[in-house]
Amino acid sequence: MSVLFKFLYSQLFVTPPVPQHDFSGETVIIVGANIGLGLEAARHIARLKAGHLVLAVRTQSKGETAKRDIVASTGISPDAVSVRIVDLSSNKSVIAFSHTIYAEFKKVDALLLNASILPFTFATNEDGVELGVATNVIGTFLLAILMLPLLRVSATIKPVHLSIVASEVHAFTTLPEKKHAHIFNALNVNSPDFERLQERYNVTKLMQVFIARELAQRVDCDRVIVNFLNPGLCHSNLTSTAKGWGSFVVETLKYWIGRTTEVGSRTLVHALSAGKESHGQYLSDCKVEPPAVFVTSDEGVKVQKRLWEELTEILENVRPGILKNIA
Ligand SMILES: NC(=O)c1ccc[n+]([C@@H]2O[C@H](COP(=O)([O-])OP(=O)(O)OC[C@H]3O[C@@H](n4cnc5c(N)ncnc54)[C@H](OP(=O)(O)O)[C@@H]3O)[C@@H](O)[C@H]2O)c1
Repeated sequence: MSVLFKFLYSQLFVTPPVPQHDFSGETVIIVGANIGLGLEAARHIARLKAGHLVLAVRTQSKGETAKRDIVASTGISPDAVSVRIVDLSSNKSVIAFSHTIYAEFKKVDALLLNASILPFTFATNEDGVELGVATNVIGTFLLAILMLPLLRVSATIKPVHLSIVASEVHAFTTLPEKKHAHIFNALNVNSPDFERLQERYNVTKLMQVFIARELAQRVDCDRVIVNFLNPGLCHSNLTSTAKGWGSFVVETLKYWIGRTTEVGSRTLVHALSAGKESHGQYLSDCKVEPPAVFVTSDEGVKVQKRLWEELTEILENVRPGILKNIA
């Protein structure tokens, strides 16, 4: 089935089921929980009796507003919801957040890496790294790997979950920067491509798929289930930075066939309760689906290895010894 046909079929004819998983006693962290899909996923998980919910956000006041909203709409105790600060675009912030979680929680049953940005202009973080790559890729996997030891020890009765919110747009690119000797370095150079539709966003979503697959190969699914998912095209704040034709196309599609934020968020909650069959897999419409053809092609397999090697070198520089966290 072509990517486009699959996309249209899914948007027009598939409605992900309302989540029913019981999160009683579970500590769940959602990164990017103040608006959009993360907020609605948090609301579902609160309704499904989460033991403790951590709203990981970059602005305290936005997190507190989200907390009040979730408490009022679900009846969850305010004591069972915490707001903690993390900015995925900053390695320092991610490391500080992980220290906070280790200090405050003896166990974490689910970590949802949901926050991403859709960059349309070239901008860099405090370390001079392009913001899309810094946030969607480096910060996301820095946090995943920092949290692995805590996740592993939390799996006493059943495996815990580490889920990454990817996207079907990973299939809309084959990562043009793969022609360069160093992919991450090539991505740090401004180019006219940057403002072409959502090229950078698509590239970072493809990188998430490759790196999550590689990470899953090194993680025991009896302890930590690593999966990544596609929520479908949904109403949210994500495309508010978009400009020109890219913006027009996406907004028109959203108007006609976009899922509501709540409906899209069901796929996030599903990933956090999916079984071992989802380990290392791409979930779309709450089912394991093959990723884009490029991902499993001979060339894709090589690109995946290169990305893993480059990323782990970067992370080892950011946090020497971090790779020991991967069993
Ligand atoms: N909406 C769709 O159609 C769609 C489709 C496929 C995949 N996705 C994926 O779904 C996920 C959620 O997106 P969404 O549509 O809900 O977008 P959204 O409405 O823009 O929400 C994104 C969330 O991420 C947070 N965030 C952004 N940058 C951050 C950073 N540096 N550190 C920490 N948090 C940060 C935002 O916080 P602030 O409020 O502070 O900005 C917000 O809470 C993303 O991974 C996106 O790629 C969305």
